[in-house]
Parts: sequence; structure tokens; C-alpha cells
Amino acid sequence: MSSMQTSNLEKSGTYTLGDRTVKRLGYGAMQLAGKGVFGPPKDRAEAVAVLREAIESGVDHIDTSDFYGPHVTNQIIKEALHPYKDDLVIVTKVGAVRGEDASWNPAFSKEALTQAIHDNLRNLGLDVIEVVNLRSMHGTYGPEEGSLEEPLSVLADLQRQGLIKHIGLSNVTSKQVADGRKITDIVCVQNLYNLAHRADDPLIEELAAAGTPYVPFFPLGGFSPLQSSTLSDVAAKLGATPMQVALAWLLQRAPNILLIPGTSSRAHLRENLAVADITLSAETVAELEGIGSAKPE
Ligand SMILES: NC(=O)c1ccc[n+]([C@@H]2O[C@H](COP(=O)([O-])OP(=O)(O)OC[C@H]3O[C@@H](n4cnc5c(N)ncnc54)[C@H](OP(=O)(O)O)[C@@H]3O)[C@@H](O)[C@H]2O)c1
Repeated sequence: MSSMQTSNLEKSGTYTLGDRTVKRLGYGAMQLAGKGVFGPPKDRAEAVAVLREAIESGVDHIDTSDFYGPHVTNQIIKEALHPYKDDLVIVTKVGAVRGEDASWNPAFSKEALTQAIHDNLRNLGLDVIEVVNLRSMHGTYGPEEGSLEEPLSVLADLQRQGLIKHIGLSNVTSKQVADGRKITDIVCVQNLYNLAHRADDPLIEELAAAGTPYVPFFPLGGFSPLQSSTLSDVAAKLGATPMQVALAWLLQRAPNILLIPGTSSRAHLRENLAVADITLSAETVAELEGIGSAKPE
């Protein structure tokens, strides 16, 4: 990897995550499992190559879970990157298990959470996990109110035992974050957010004021990547791709946003990591922000 690409990545800036500082452009590993995030990937060698290129390009924040595959994604991360560079922060998540039919099932009992932490440690080859997000299953891809006290207390116990350094929350409401902070420090929040899904605008501001990173999942739209003629028009004008513009908009949206776009291909990885070079004018931002309020195309 050329040094030019590394310095470009640094242009996106950094933010505090737990007691570490990470670049705002990271990588989400969910796309490295098979179709439907189940079983092995089509091209395991490419998956390993994507991870290695991400790190060589300067990525120091990887998002994963042992329920991707299950186990597969973490095992590929370990194969590709272990022993890990000191500056790499691996963030995982717990709260679900996969059924044999690929279903995603809530797994909030003490036994299930403890098992999940041990599975993550073993499959990633770690003695301690830097950050674990408790993924609320009260809602599927959007938060719903409901108590997280019991599972969060289990994670706080595992934290006291030294298996987890920091705890974050995923798919949660502002109230769940505030309630969580009474149990343990909440070092990040990971919710669905992108140009077309802006429900978390107030939460992002709230977290920014507290210095807490907000990590959007599905930054590119996830299973159905963002499609909009406005996005395509803006991208064409800038000589960029629509996906790059979607990421550049997130980087400019708030300083506490950390990006973890997912991809199974090095070509897309390169595209995604190049967005630190894109600056959107106020006029372009206004044009793009029309997308969130427009009807789906
Ligand atoms: N907490 C949660 O509940 C939750 C839920 C979902 C995801 N996540 C995390 O968030 C991360 C990001 O979400 P995601 O991976 O699901 O969705 P995403 O980043 O919004 O989009 C990924 C999709 O976009 C495609 N893509 C990526 N870069 C592209 C490019 N430059 N041009 C065209 N297509 C591109 C990918 O296909 P290719 O593989 O072909 O590039 C894939 O289909 C995940 O990896 C995971 O770590 C968390």
C-alpha cells in the first residue's frame, strides 16, 4: 500500500473510543461471512486480503461479532491479522445467537452472554476484548424501549473480571443510553443511520456533547445499498462514487461519527478509504440532506 493512501486516511481525523484514539475511517467485518451473514464466504482468500489491506492502509478500528457466520468472521480476522498491531481496536457485539436456519435470536441470559464473550475471546485470539457492544434485540434494525439492565449488569461483571475493557450499546434509544450509564461507562453507541435514515439526529448531538462516539451501522444502506438520483448526481459532479459521497456526508455530519463501512472486496475498500479526500460544500450538503426527507425511489 502506498504511503499516500495512508496519509489520506488520516485526513478523516480521529476520535476517542474508550481510552484509545482511533481514526474516524474504520472497517465493518460483517460482509466477510457467507450470504445472509451465514457460513463461510465465497472467497476466503479475498476476505483475508481485504482485512490485511485495511490494516496496511491505516485502519485501526474493526467492528465485528461472533454471530457473523457464526464464528466465521472472527476466525478470518484472527487468521488475517493475529498477532494484532498494538494500535488496532477490535469492537465486537453480543446479544444474539444464530439458529441453524440462519435466524438471529435474542441471547440475553447470563449463560448466553458469558458464552458469547468466551467465544469472541477464543475466535479472535484475545485475552481481553477492547470494546463489547450489547446489541439490544428489543427491535430489529431500529431501537425500541425496554430494559437492558440485566444483560448490561452481566457484561459489567465480566468487565470487573477483566474479560472486557469497555462496554458500548447498539440499537438503542437515548433513554437506554442514559440508563446504561448508571450501570457502567458507555463508550460508544452503534445504531442504524445513513443519508436516508436520520431518526438518530438528536441522539448524535447528545452523544457528541458527552464526547461519546456514534458508530452508524448500514452507513451505505446495508443489505439494500443507498440509491438516489440526487446522490448519483452529486457523485458525478464530484467525480466520486455515490457510496463515497454517502460516507463523506457522514464524516462531515458530526465529529463523533466513526465509520465502519462493510465490504468483501478490496476494490470497494479502497474506494471507501479514499473518502477522507472528499470535501462537500454547504450547498452540496443541503442538496444531499433533501434525500432523507424524500420518498424512497
Ligand atoms: N449493530 C448492528 O446491529 C449491526 C447491524 C449491521 C451491521 N453492523 C456493522 O456495521 C458494519 C457496516 O454495515 P454493513 O456492512 O452491514 O452495511 P454497509 O456498510 O452499509 O454496506 C455494505 C454493502 O455495501 C456494499 N459496498 C461496500 N462498499 C461499497 C462501494 N464502495 N461501492 C459499492 N458497494 C459497496 C457491500 O458489498 P461488497 O461486499 O460487494 O462491497 C455491502 O453489500 C457491518 O460490517 C457490521 O460490522 C452492525
